[in-house]
Amino acid sequence: MKIVSIVGARPNFMKIAPFIRAIDDYNLKGSGKIEHILVHTGQHYDVRMSEAFFKALGIPDPDINLEIGSGSHAEQLGNTMIAFEKVLIEYTPDWVVVVGDVNATLACSVIAKRLNIKVCHIEAGLRSGDMSMPEEINRLVTDRLSDLLLTPDELSSENLRNEGTPEDKIHFVGNIMIDTLEANRAKAEKMSIESIIRKNLAADTQFPSIVPQNGEFALMTIHRPSNVDSELVFSNLIDFLLNEVAPKHMLIWPIHPRARKQLETLGLWDKVISNTSMIILDPIGYHEMVRLNIGAKIMLTDSGGLQEECCILGTPCLTLRWNTERPITLRENGGASVLVGNNIERIRNEYYHTLTLDRLPSRPNLWDGKTAERIVKILSEFI
Ligand code: UD1
Repeated sequence: MKIVSIVGARPNFMKIAPFIRAIDDYNLKGSGKIEHILVHTGQHYDVRMSEAFFKALGIPDPDINLEIGSGSHAEQLGNTMIAFEKVLIEYTPDWVVVVGDVNATLACSVIAKRLNIKVCHIEAGLRSGDMSMPEEINRLVTDRLSDLLLTPDELSSENLRNEGTPEDKIHFVGNIMIDTLEANRAKAEKMSIESIIRKNLAADTQFPSIVPQNGEFALMTIHRPSNVDSELVFSNLIDFLLNEVAPKHMLIWPIHPRARKQLETLGLWDKVISNTSMIILDPIGYHEMVRLNIGAKIMLTDSGGLQEECCILGTPCLTLRWNTERPITLRENGGASVLVGNNIERIRNEYYHTLTLDRLPSRPNLWDGKTAERIVKILSEFI
């Protein structure tokens, strides 16, 4: 069997690493042979957003890099489709495996189906119901086209049933991100907060006079267009961070290129980096993020993957969104996260409440580190 799998952007890398390892294990057992070709669309291209993750997670170099880079959605989608069609015509795989919900996921599944190649979607069935998010459109189209829909939780399987997806296409396999978390947690735990800060300090920023220890800092990531691209939303949030979070805790903020560009455009960059409680880092590595997450008193994020990791690690998490495609991570469902949107009043109230909470790790069904193994078994037995 021949499989082409796709990665494009940072959150894809932790999902593909265990899948490739599980294919290697399957081939070693000798009961069959899977030929695997890894394609990187090149949507994320900075060393810190891409190559560093390949190294840290032991992902082999991609067999093919489409080098799509930045651009509007239409440019990213269109250029990926044009380049990926050539790959499929040359390699004629039995399956195209896509993960997550980035532009690469959508572009590659559309072209695979146009060429009558079967598509398998890892992380199928997530729904936020928010059609203003590009990721929601990517998820809907990819799931509609997929032949095999592998879901991380039973709520996602239910979403697919409600949309009329035939039962035999849906398989609940668990969350593949957690395979990576469990495989790398011990290594992350050994890292020092001080050396993470020293190694990743963003250009023009100062090493802090006091290095925060476990439980002494807030951790933030933010990159969604709905938070970062609106001047009003973003500048109000920055005021809240400077005036209310920073006086209470040090805030460690590994900054996404999109957020940094916007801070510079709005003239807020100098104000942020001159605050001695704000520790601004370049995008950090996988183990470094897990280590900081383990030590954080509270997480503020609009990332779906971090919401899931907070759930397993128990870090109380304010999710800076009005909705989530990952409701299983919410407090009301036993998880660690609460939706606060981008209304400052609401963020403030939940922030003070959340500071009073203890860590409460939880583990949804089949988030057990063995999802990739289940996926390869299903693919190898598919008729
Ligand atoms: C993308 C995904 C999102 C995912 C996020 C994680 C889509 C629609 N969105 O959003 O689901 O959560 O990645 O990071 O696919 N840039 C760099 N260097 C890079 C990559 C990007 O400077 O290596 C810049 C780009 O030029 C652009 C901005 O960052 O200005 C945003 O990148 P883009 O790939 O368009 O989307 P993300 O916001 O990263």
